[in-house]
Amino acid sequence: MQSAYRPIRIGLLGAGSVGSQVAKLLIENQSELAKRVGAELSLTGIAVRDLKSKRDAELPAELFTTDAESVILGSDIVIELIGGIEPAKTWVMQALNSGADVITANKALIAACGPELFALADQLGAQLYFEAAVAGAIPIIRPLRESLAGDRIDRVMGIVNGTTNFILDRMESTGADFDEALAEATALGYAEADPTADIEGFDAASKAAILASLAFHSEVPVEKVHREGITSVTAMQIETAKQAGYAVKLLAICERVESGGLVARVHPTLIPLEHPLAAVRGAYNAVFVEAQSAGRLMFYGAGAGGPETASAILGDLVSAAKRHLAGGPGLADSTHANLEALPVQFVNTRFQITLEVRDKAGVLAKIASVFAGHGVSVETVQQSVAPNNAALLTIMTHVASERDLEAVVAALEADDSVVLVASVIRVEGL
Ligand code: HSE
Repeated sequence: MQSAYRPIRIGLLGAGSVGSQVAKLLIENQSELAKRVGAELSLTGIAVRDLKSKRDAELPAELFTTDAESVILGSDIVIELIGGIEPAKTWVMQALNSGADVITANKALIAACGPELFALADQLGAQLYFEAAVAGAIPIIRPLRESLAGDRIDRVMGIVNGTTNFILDRMESTGADFDEALAEATALGYAEADPTADIEGFDAASKAAILASLAFHSEVPVEKVHREGITSVTAMQIETAKQAGYAVKLLAICERVESGGLVARVHPTLIPLEHPLAAVRGAYNAVFVEAQSAGRLMFYGAGAGGPETASAILGDLVSAAKRHLAGGPGLADSTHANLEALPVQFVNTRFQITLEVRDKAGVLAKIASVFAGHGVSVETVQQSVAPNNAALLTIMTHVASERDLEAVVAALEADDSVVLVASVIRVEGL
């Protein structure tokens, strides 16, 4: 294709499973992409740490270098796919300072340093794109930033970590306990050798911070995201949930709260089996958005994977390249609403509490009075027999505040008719 424009130079930092696919697709689809953009996209260099590492795709050897700076300084658009904070942050800043636009899939970097990087990009008239940073292939950043920019979003609930969704799904479908399901996830390559970031909810918390800041036009530091992982989810909790008509999911929930601020939280959550998020199985991701005018929307798909994540990167690349040709400012980061990110105690929700209690006269009334005494209304109570003259009570509350529920749990733990508070889990999506 003849174009009035010189080729746009693309530099790639990192050639792991996503980077290799980005390079492969960029080369394979060069002429089609050129037609969509209106100029050729020329991959000019790929910076890697080790030239000898095995790649997921066959790529021209002459593109590879260990000199990241030469790739950055020789590019109009830099794609950062190395992950982690450093040296990614330094290189992204160097790229922006050199006049390049930047595309990244780095959720940790955007969640931790987003405001600083967006301010720098804004000051330089450059753009920072990050569609692949949340939920891999699923378009969710652009819908929040653009398609829904005229609406008011009240809530975003997402399954944004495929590894934990796979583990919880296996626990549900096979009755496995957490360790067995984690071992299976590791054997199948879903979980990394060190799975901490996934199973302790750090990965989902970074994504929650990004989603909350976009949905509510506010700065949401990742440290303000309430985080609980899935390591203490038991086979018993999953079975109890299933019998009551619920699935256990690790959800990232970002919402406006009554006091006027926002709360972002990540924790295992019960959702009714009829809720669309309950149907998200295996390592898939989904983001459920509740907006004032648009109503309920769900975005579903692959949250990770080389070609899948490369699709989101290439979408950003076409946008960045078009802006490069058209000039003018891109989308500014919008934090104008400036809502305060509040602690989880500001949330009102329902809870399911499972207790092992002594099975004798008056215990049920005593337990009920603990709930009533803290203003927490009970919706249902189910009792079953447990060993050693104990009974298992599964109690579902009406909507209650976190503060009141914390007080109930403390009182139950101190009560001599309670053998064990076996589980406290929040319930959403009713
Ligand atoms: N480790 C993430 C997950 C994928 O399991 O979903 C990348 O964000």
